[in-house]
Amino acid sequence: MLRNPNEILLVAAVIFGVLQGSWSFVVPQTPFAQSTYPIRSVSTAIFSLSQNRRPIIAGNWKLNPATISEAENLLKLISGNFKNHRTLDGPEIVVFPPFPYLTTAINELDGTGIKVGAQNVGLETKGAFTGEVAASMISSLGASYVMLGHSERRTLYKESDSDINAKVHLCMEQPNLNVILCVGETEEEYESGLLKSVVDLQLKKGLMGLKKEDLKRIVVAYEPVWAIGTGKVATSEQAQSAHIAVRGTLSDLFGVEYANEVKIQYGGSVSPASIDELMQMPDVDGALVGGASLTADSFTRIVDGGTYSNLDNQSPKELIATEVVKTKNVLGESPIWSVKDKCLYWISAPEEEVWAWNLKDSPYRRLMGTTIGCIALQESTEEGDLVVAGERAFIKMNMSSNSKDFASGGEVLCDRPEQTETTRPNDGRVDRQGRLVFGMYNNYHRAGASAGENNAGLYRLNSKLEVESLLDYKYRVSNCICFPKEGDIMYFCDTPTRKVYAFDYPKEDGGKLTNRRLVYTVPPELAGAPDGAQIDSDGFLWIALSGSGRVIRVNPQSGHVDTIVHLPVSSPTSCTFGGEDLDELFITTRGPDGGGLYRVKVPGIKGLPEPEFSINSLQSVPSNSSPVLPTSAPSSTNEFPTPPVPSATRFVPGAHYLS
Ligand code: PGA
Repeated sequence: MLRNPNEILLVAAVIFGVLQGSWSFVVPQTPFAQSTYPIRSVSTAIFSLSQNRRPIIAGNWKLNPATISEAENLLKLISGNFKNHRTLDGPEIVVFPPFPYLTTAINELDGTGIKVGAQNVGLETKGAFTGEVAASMISSLGASYVMLGHSERRTLYKESDSDINAKVHLCMEQPNLNVILCVGETEEEYESGLLKSVVDLQLKKGLMGLKKEDLKRIVVAYEPVWAIGTGKVATSEQAQSAHIAVRGTLSDLFGVEYANEVKIQYGGSVSPASIDELMQMPDVDGALVGGASLTADSFTRIVDGGTYSNLDNQSPKELIATEVVKTKNVLGESPIWSVKDKCLYWISAPEEEVWAWNLKDSPYRRLMGTTIGCIALQESTEEGDLVVAGERAFIKMNMSSNSKDFASGGEVLCDRPEQTETTRPNDGRVDRQGRLVFGMYNNYHRAGASAGENNAGLYRLNSKLEVESLLDYKYRVSNCICFPKEGDIMYFCDTPTRKVYAFDYPKEDGGKLTNRRLVYTVPPELAGAPDGAQIDSDGFLWIALSGSGRVIRVNPQSGHVDTIVHLPVSSPTSCTFGGEDLDELFITTRGPDGGGLYRVKVPGIKGLPEPEFSINSLQSVPSNSSPVLPTSAPSSTNEFPTPPVPSATRFVPGAHYLS
């Protein structure tokens, strides 16, 4: 991105010439007008204070978000993106949350190097001024910046230049406070050629009485009012020209040397798409970002250099999975690895089978006599104890090939919710507290009377075998359910939407999922949709993209895909980590071209042990469901079986098995 200095001078000179012709104000011919500062990207900026100014990117949250928990979430995402990631070579980063979130922001961002600022300050220092906030209070919290003179304060709250100047002085009395002073012209003023005189006056009045030394703690944000929140970003040439004008006034006030040190941000509809061009300009020293700072991903990308962002630039690692069990499942699903049993279990949903493979002997299966949504490990001293989410009920069964129970049906634990033919249990995983979270599936979502209808709920089976509803709304096809090791977040997608979300996950029984935020959207160029997912020990998501022949690893904080596992078949359905060291990714697939179990080693990445479902009382809850018995003889153990032909007499609602 860095260009050579001659090219820079040429560009600056051309811009300068063009602007002199096209703009109605005169750009000052100060010594710094044809800047010798290198053209920078935000991310590659290397600064030395005498020659170059370290860029500063600030996020102005304005009156957002509505609640502290949303603010915490945004801060966590930002902090996750930046932790241990930024070096001193990068830009200075500041966020400006509303007053009530300042302390939370300071705490959440601790250790990231990101500074926190206040969006305003009162005119008084203490006393009977109800509702006011003093500069000393801001400073004592540990905030580093105060933003003053924002156009919204000037117009909506009638702040005058002399108010702003008084506030600048109050901040300067606090040795640890810096100020971002915002200036900028309205559209009308711009059209009338008044940009320079408006900005000149705002600066002269706003900075009146300041000592040269104070200037080190002042950043100027040039924000044309017509660009704020409008999507009408100024061109980089317009910004550069205005910044030269700002520096001209600063030079008039404090001298060239001091003026050269002042950082001038551009603000007004800055986004990842516009930041790089703006930052090419020698006098654009960063950005004041409003709307785009409310999303961790876009803010991070702006800091990292917009379209050149590392988040986008790092090409994903590509791996290929190979088939290890040629099961030809109609619909393989729900793979789980038992550390205790050293065994992988999975299902073929419509074939009513649970499969087991210890990675050494031949895999074997057990027929359940019911369509299966998912399986879970059951907390037990016995090998092979599983819980099966059957079509009508939850079933406890033992999968051990030595068990005498092997030939009998499982024990019904309790009914599943929504006793209707329209829905059935689908994807599920045990949370970190040992409860089984599962979603329902609209059997008719692809066709039929209730096509497309959101009628499937999301539930949790707790240790008392009570089913709790986790969401107040319904959807079509639950998938992607998984939990990071802290157990406080749950991932989920309604497959037809092609979007994966994170929720704050309630640890207490009876709680609801809250604070939904988007983690990943399948891009339009990819076929298919997200199916099952698993989390690794870094907290990254592995999502099977059914229909596009791949499993992707997604950073849930940025949505960035850093690994793609390709399969030779189109529809992977889910995945999990297994093997002695939990470093092998097992992937179930579905027909017609797939159906086998695939595996890939992922160097340097490990899975987490699959949690076990814990039942407080082994007393099952009376169920109205029909008895669960195998509908055909179980295969003999330890042999590689031929998949059975599904029985035509079984109840198979809808027979639409989207994985
Ligand atoms: P915007 O706001 O990026 O949403 O236009 C900028 C600002 O007002 O500081």
